[in-house]
Amino acid sequence: MSNLGFENTDTILMEERIFPPSKELVEQANLTAYMRSKGFEDYEAFYQWSLSHRLEFWEDMARELHWFQPWQTTFQWQDKPFFQWFVGGKFNIVYNCLDRHMQTPTRHKVAFYWEGDGGESRTLTYEDLYVLTNRLAKALQNLGVKKGDRVAIYMPAIPEQVAALLAVARLGAVHTVIFGGFAANALSERIIDAQAKVLITADGNYRAGKLIELKKIADEAMSQSPTIETAVVVRRLGQEVPMQAGRDHYLDELLATIPEDTVVPCEPMESEDLLYILYTSGSTGKPKGVVHVQAGYAVGVYTTTKFVFDIKPDDIYWCTADIGWVTGHSYIVYGPLANGATGVLFESTPTYPEPDRYWSVVEKYKVSILYTSPTAIRGLMRFGEQWPAKHDLSSLRLLGTVGEPINPEAWMWYRHNIGHDSLPVMDTWWQTETGMILISPTIRQPLKPGSATRPLPTIEADIVDSNGKPVPVGKGGFLIVRHPWPAQMRTIYGDPARYRSYWETIPDVYFAGDAATRDDLGYIRVQGRVDDVIKVSGHRLGSMEIESSLVSHPAVAEAAAIGKPDPVKGEHVKVFVILKQGNEASEAMIAELKKHVRATVGALAVPEELEFVPSLPKTRSGKIMRRVIRAKELGQPVGDVSTLES
Ligand code: WTA
Repeated sequence: MSNLGFENTDTILMEERIFPPSKELVEQANLTAYMRSKGFEDYEAFYQWSLSHRLEFWEDMARELHWFQPWQTTFQWQDKPFFQWFVGGKFNIVYNCLDRHMQTPTRHKVAFYWEGDGGESRTLTYEDLYVLTNRLAKALQNLGVKKGDRVAIYMPAIPEQVAALLAVARLGAVHTVIFGGFAANALSERIIDAQAKVLITADGNYRAGKLIELKKIADEAMSQSPTIETAVVVRRLGQEVPMQAGRDHYLDELLATIPEDTVVPCEPMESEDLLYILYTSGSTGKPKGVVHVQAGYAVGVYTTTKFVFDIKPDDIYWCTADIGWVTGHSYIVYGPLANGATGVLFESTPTYPEPDRYWSVVEKYKVSILYTSPTAIRGLMRFGEQWPAKHDLSSLRLLGTVGEPINPEAWMWYRHNIGHDSLPVMDTWWQTETGMILISPTIRQPLKPGSATRPLPTIEADIVDSNGKPVPVGKGGFLIVRHPWPAQMRTIYGDPARYRSYWETIPDVYFAGDAATRDDLGYIRVQGRVDDVIKVSGHRLGSMEIESSLVSHPAVAEAAAIGKPDPVKGEHVKVFVILKQGNEASEAMIAELKKHVRATVGALAVPEELEFVPSLPKTRSGKIMRRVIRAKELGQPVGDVSTLES
């Protein structure tokens, strides 16, 4: 708890604008249908009911999915804080995303419109995705992949990436997706931690027109990753890349021997069997492998996709995230497919080739639901209203954001320019660890710019002080959640003690690591992290990862990384570096160190600012006091330094 502090206690209390939901939307909402089935017209009464009928709610949701065998116990704390949902059930999330749709008209519906970096497109129906997934599963099976094995995925946003996740999960193996922007060391560190034996990658890709040599990076990572036995390479570019005989296989060559009608049945998994490990940054130490399981996760993402985005059979839904992050796992792949939705899969960036790329994609595919990040909105705002104005955005009916706090100004711009001054904007709060959205408006609630509003049905979130006591309205505090929900992580892979700390920082509640305030409506405004996690453009980075990279450079003695407020990216990284004797603090050294971070962690971690210093403030035990450095840098009161001793 040594690093906790509240900053930016902000202006949500001064925010008076309220946007009530339209009657028409409320009338047709998926949530309204469910509320009525339970005898409710009033949302508040329903929400209160949901808190005392948590299990009934989730049982109802779970019954909408397919089970090979029904569960016996809906929820149990086996050994607190470890818990299970839907115990005794046999289940496979992929059956719910693909197989069950083969028996309905969804079979011929579009699963994904794919939009490539250079504007290429591909359309895959549910049947196409089913066929590709089965053949890929067969190829993996032929390479020896079986239930429980870990398979790493390091790919651009192409349909084969979606099929890779689904094929792995179909076999009952465990995927670990690594964002394509990570460099070799970061990739290898994750492969080793997960002990992955197969890596699925691509020859390379273009991002905003720039060549990314994925296979080259993968080769470097594999040379440092002894667990890898096999690599599967998708030809995205069709360029020749070095292939290591016996280890590397082109996917198209593997598939050439596998007939179109091949079916690899979904492995019937226990509800609590692992689905995936996704690495994310913590406040200290190496990235942590957040573990999600088959059934509870499926129920959670299915339900939140249905109720938050109010997804309907005719919607064209576009989540602009990358599958390398949790948003892509839950709200590009699993949640939408479990709902039989049509999605857009996008390989490019918001401003390539021009700052209207998003709006041209919305127009091209007639997107009706758009889920993006505050950084993208703020970035596009800078280019002006004329860019969205060039396009017909009338297909849109609902907007969402995720990943970082959205300032009311950006929220208003989004609603005004993209949302025809009338669409709901869902500011959704959640985390890699929570697996699903926890705090967000639903169609039923009035909206307030810059607020994620209230917890979803059954979710009891609170804002408390360090003793766990709720703080008064308008005061800053720690965001906590009181009971486990189905899609919550089950552990940190190989490090259960780290998992425990989420429930032990403040006893018996889930400690999110965010600061928040609440207004007199009970609306929550999440302000940002209270630990050493830095959110750059919504990408989650740990101070330690950047510092470790810097100190691995021969010229660096010590380093401290902090996040600084940034008008577009939310935060950017500033590092303070102590050089070893004999090294010169020069512009050339700054360039060299930035290059080093890019080569070891990835472009996303490169510090915007780098300052050479003779010393860094430390606790008596030698821990760098990042909070003090940050407060000084931002001209804020440093606070009680004595409490920082750890
Ligand atoms: C931040 C992303 C404010 C928060 C799904 C959280 C947000 C961290 C919001 C998790 C939001 C996410 N408003 N802050 N709507 N959504 N955050 O694991 O600090 O990449 O703890 O998951 O993002 O980031 P992660």
